[in-house]
Amino acid sequence: MTDRELLNIARQASENAYVPYSKFKVGAAVECEDGTVFYGCNVENAALGSTICAERGAICKAVSEGHRDFVRIAIWADSENYCMPCGACRQFMSEFVKDMEVLCAKAGGRYVSYPLSKLMPYTFNY
Ligand code: THU
Repeated sequence: MTDRELLNIARQASENAYVPYSKFKVGAAVECEDGTVFYGCNVENAALGSTICAERGAICKAVSEGHRDFVRIAIWADSENYCMPCGACRQFMSEFVKDMEVLCAKAGGRYVSYPLSKLMPYTFNY
């Protein structure tokens, strides 16, 4: 699967975002080693801290289905700036893999790509 195809899945997923508070729709699509893709969107809550980011939603779906071997994740928002994963999502990703590619898109579809190890060095683990 190309980067663009994975980004398109993330874009489609963002359409289901439940964002009555921020109005900021995010979609994520995570690809596993065998090519399986899981996707998710952000789901907000009136208790704002209970909000679940798109990346964590997608990863929870994958882990629930027995997949942890992630190779790439695409994150999409129709935003002015590239939609980078928040700190909690970086920590969440690094729970399962040493490294993976992280594609971060913005409105119009341009994207940047970073290794997770660059975005989240010296990750917490024990
Ligand atoms: N959000 C994500 O879904 N992923 C991120 O990595 C950053 C933030 C969501 C959470 C909230 O619903 C909205 O974006 C604004 O913070």
